[in-house]
Amino acid sequence: MPDLTSLDWSALERLRATFLARAAAGAAPYWQNASALAAYDATYAERIGWKWDALLHELRLRSWAPPAGTVLLDFGCGSGVAGRRVLSAFGASRFAGLALADHSPEAVAFAGASASRHFPDLRQLDAATWCAAPDSAGLAPPFTLVVSHVLNELAPAAREELLALARHAAAVLWIEPGTHADSRDLASVRDRLRERHRIIAPCTHRETCPLFAEKNARDWCHFFAEPPPGVQNSPDWVRFAQRAGVDLRSQAYSPLVLEQASAPALSTPPFPPGSARVLGRPEVFKPYARLLACDAGGLHFLELSKRTDPALVKRLAKDPPLPLYALEHDGKHVRQARPLFQTEG
Ligand SMILES: C[S@@+](CC[C@H](N)C(=O)[O-])C[C@H]1O[C@@H](n2cnc3c(N)ncnc32)[C@H](O)[C@@H]1O
Repeated sequence: MPDLTSLDWSALERLRATFLARAAAGAAPYWQNASALAAYDATYAERIGWKWDALLHELRLRSWAPPAGTVLLDFGCGSGVAGRRVLSAFGASRFAGLALADHSPEAVAFAGASASRHFPDLRQLDAATWCAAPDSAGLAPPFTLVVSHVLNELAPAAREELLALARHAAAVLWIEPGTHADSRDLASVRDRLRERHRIIAPCTHRETCPLFAEKNARDWCHFFAEPPPGVQNSPDWVRFAQRAGVDLRSQAYSPLVLEQASAPALSTPPFPPGSARVLGRPEVFKPYARLLACDAGGLHFLELSKRTDPALVKRLAKDPPLPLYALEHDGKHVRQARPLFQTEG
């Protein structure tokens, strides 16, 4: 874990003000210098890293990995946390190289230097090769696109360019904040990319995202990542959380993982019919749990009674399994819920 004892607090205050003024889509680069990037990397980016850890944990449990031999392209890399987490999870040797893209040259330099320290044998490539004219033929080698907390900063034209890039990616790993707006924004990206890509996460189906049905306007697709042990007792982290106005107990995130449909299917088997993902956090009451499940039939608010599955209701309160289930329900009540992937719980 990073050492927070010598943080540049004034740089963090300036960044916080920038992040709060979220209307700044299309604004000029805001990284002032390496000190601001270092302060961000140790704090905000580390929190984002916990979200990546949660998603990557799921992907590893499901035996999914991006295609070997691809270049890892981290778009909007900032201090480079997302690319580094993905490299650590799958092994740097899986990738043909790392390309870092950001409209801030300071960010690219910082992320590049950090990647060199962590992965000295990994080739770094010029991101412009992949980011320019993605529609031109013959982009080689193929690439895995990583995007983390970027969407709400992009002006419409830049967003379209990123989508064009994503259409050519062999695989896409994307995390946005788990807010109502950001999650629904990512879901609209998902709907636009699903033609060419298989959906690995979060969806168990390929239907139009049910969030866009009028009756689901209040819902969003998000999950929670826990911090590593020790964070909540650390005076430096507590001070950071107070000053940044964030809750360290759990970090909400919205993920999207895709692989090119034309590529041979990798090791993750497709979800069996009837599979569902439980969104957000189930509410557990004494006699039952209430959950929001998404499957090929849409979004369903369901009750799982203790009589139906006492062990699962108990587990949902304390140590829920990966929220992927073979689920039988009648639209109101769960008849049977079998976790698709066993975690240690
Ligand atoms: C909130 S930061 C996230 C950084 C990093 N991906 C992370 O997860 O920590 C958003 C990043 O997107 C970059 N960015 C914003 N607009 C961009 C654009 N049009 N092209 C490339 N990068 C952009 C910013 O410079 C910044 O580094």
